[in-house]
Amino acid sequence: MTYETIKVERQDGITTVTLNRPEKRNAMSPQMHREMSAVLEELELDDETRVLVITGAGDAFCAGQDLDKYFHDHKDKPREMERIRKLSNEWRGAKLRLFPKPTIAAVNGWCFGGAFTTVAACDLAVAAEEAIFGLSEINFGVFPGGLVTKAVTDLLRTRDALYYILTGDQFDGRRAAEIGLVNYAVPRQQLMAEVHGLARKLAEKNPLSLKAAKEVYKLGKSMGWDEAFAWAIAKINELTLLQKGEWMEQGVGQFRGKQYKPGLGAYKKKG
Ligand code: COA
Repeated sequence: MTYETIKVERQDGITTVTLNRPEKRNAMSPQMHREMSAVLEELELDDETRVLVITGAGDAFCAGQDLDKYFHDHKDKPREMERIRKLSNEWRGAKLRLFPKPTIAAVNGWCFGGAFTTVAACDLAVAAEEAIFGLSEINFGVFPGGLVTKAVTDLLRTRDALYYILTGDQFDGRRAAEIGLVNYAVPRQQLMAEVHGLARKLAEKNPLSLKAAKEVYKLGKSMGWDEAFAWAIAKINELTLLQKGEWMEQGVGQFRGKQYKPGLGAYKKKG
């Protein structure tokens, strides 16, 4: 499939999807929403994709929703607005959030409003120190809508979330790391090398274990202790079946055979 608003590159198990409307600071148009939705469906089943990286072209990660094409163009078309709103929230709030392989946001530059949902939906996020973030919605007279407020509620402390929701103040990549919106920040020129290094580390782990680890964490988050325990038991049984006992035979077996120390690194997959 060919895409106009995004670029897809595959290398050594790492697929990088670049939001690609640099002339509009990679703002999310309805077409970008449709293309992101389609590409996630494609990559979910793509054996070449072991880790997914999302970044932006040029000096922006993503300037949030396209204020013209997403909002203004639909001001008198409530049904179309409804449809595109649903799609916009579905690819980030469900498809990306629960993508069956690890996902990393590489926040290279401007990151506003709706783009916070993309960052939050990824498992990990690394920012350029120079990147500028902002919940700008209050500046144009609304509030962080869609899933943006939910995303920052999930990730940030109450004081930080409300501070940025109410003031719309900008902050840089270092501050984004301090408040837990991203894992850490590095100088912009090192960003992609850093993210690809992190992606390679994940690509070396057992993909079935990574998928189960994400599901146990993400779906278990809203469960009580009893449900979370039952859920974890069900998932380990499923994982053992799907892996044909590999973690016990090789992961635990190689430790018992004094071939490696799991505290210091991963077992060597055999067969
Ligand atoms: N929606 C639609 N168009 C956008 C956009 C958005 N969210 N963000 C940027 N653009 C467009 C601009 O209108 C401009 O288009 P033009 O060249 O046809 O006039 C182009 O992208 C470049 O933007 P510009 O403002 O000149 O770039 P900049 O580098 O000086 O500033 C921003 C970058 C991101 C600070 C600024 O564009 C901005 O404030 N954008 C809105 C961010 C926002 O509030 N997003 C939240 C939406 S939920």
